[in-house]
Amino acid sequence: MIKIAPSILAADPLNFERDVRAAEKAGCDWIHVDIMDAHFVPNLAYSPETVRRLREVTDLPLDVHLMMDNPEVMIDPFLDAGASCLTIHAEIERDIPALLGRIRKRGRMAGISLKPGTPLEKISGYLDMADLVLMMTVEPGFGGQKLDARVISKIRQLKDTGYRGEIEADGGIREDNLESLVSNGLTVAVMGTALFRDEHMAACVRRLHRISRGE
Ligand code: DX5
Ligand code: ZN
Repeated sequence: MIKIAPSILAADPLNFERDVRAAEKAGCDWIHVDIMDAHFVPNLAYSPETVRRLREVTDLPLDVHLMMDNPEVMIDPFLDAGASCLTIHAEIERDIPALLGRIRKRGRMAGISLKPGTPLEKISGYLDMADLVLMMTVEPGFGGQKLDARVISKIRQLKDTGYRGEIEADGGIREDNLESLVSNGLTVAVMGTALFRDEHMAACVRRLHRISRGE
């Protein structure tokens, strides 16, 4: 059964505690937190303080997605704040193995992410250093976009390498496209709009888990 990770980018910023508690009660597995620096992506979102406060209201793993050009300056503040998994992007001009190593050294999950247009070859040398690969299924920066179906073959390509870590996708995931992702190897689905806009989140999560079990 895949893990469902609601993205708080789609939650009500004035009611994070309410929305995150509702997501946990609804049976979600992780909480996805998007960090944006207005450089790597044309948007700005959240800080270590957001993660620290979320850590106080949920026991679910906090899956922190760093859409930043210079994550090296924020790795320790986010880990200090309670991030369970920290994901950096492969497109940044940085020493990726060193950054992944720093995250793992502190006993947390280290993730690497690819934009839709970035080929898998970009990270083939890092796969054994990453506990998670995050395949962006939209151009990073905003919620509510349409899933880019071209990425499904890249998920299959990663699966076929025998990669044993988590295979996560993010952006435009809904009930009607989840099965095509799961059947190609997905293990974690980030969902913002489709989950936080659903008045009956618990029923929705049950359906998603059933879909992932092929029922
Ligand atoms: C976009 C973010 C996603 C986004 C997903 O850059 O990384 O996590 O919030 O939201 P939906 O599911 O609405 O596309
Ligand atoms: Zn994200």
